[in-house]
Amino acid sequence: MNQDELKQAVAKSAIDYISPRLNTSSVIGVGTGSTANCFIDFLAAIRNDFDGAVASSEATAERLKSHGIPVYELNSTADLEFYVDGADEVNEQLELIKGGGGALTREKIVAEVAQTFICIADESKKVDILGDFPLPLEVLPMARSHVGREIVKLGGDPVYRDAFTTDNGNIIIDVYNLDLSRPIQVEERLNQIVGVVTNGLFARRPADLLLLGTKTGVRTLK
Ligand code: A5P
Repeated sequence: MNQDELKQAVAKSAIDYISPRLNTSSVIGVGTGSTANCFIDFLAAIRNDFDGAVASSEATAERLKSHGIPVYELNSTADLEFYVDGADEVNEQLELIKGGGGALTREKIVAEVAQTFICIADESKKVDILGDFPLPLEVLPMARSHVGREIVKLGGDPVYRDAFTTDNGNIIIDVYNLDLSRPIQVEERLNQIVGVVTNGLFARRPADLLLLGTKTGVRTLK
């Protein structure tokens, strides 16, 4: 199977996992990216089995709506049983780097609220130690230089993501070469930098379940 087929396989597995657990009032949190897009397309086939979705980005909201799936505000959603999303990297503890697509803030909020966070990823995303993928930070525009200097003090190499604005009107700084061997500590440290809205480490709230697409089938890791 090629990478696209693996993404399809894990998206279908997520549907198989949540489907028997849904009822007609269920609202599903939906992530962003190419793997999440596969999930959205499969969701369309079961859209009468649940109420609607909360989207982690404008792009996801548009795709959901294009399938006739109602999109709700998180604030008006009482109970979010599942959040399904991809990742840029995932380790054995199901800690993640996310934000390659720049949607990390809304993704982290929806993941935080959901009872069960299901990560869907092809095997290229599985790593022993996080950090080969540059860590995205969503940053308020006026804090760009300040945040860059703080990252250098921590040993990272900040790179401004050129010509990119997040759904929240902010910028992204991608951080290279930061030691992420202690992800929870790094996540908390980055949260302390004034001007950082969100960092792309999902370690304080890792995934609960990983559906990993491999050449020999979809593996389930908890
Ligand atoms: C979006 O901001 C990201 O967090 C995505 O979830 C992540 O980049 C995975 O995307 P793909 O499924 O396209 O690899």
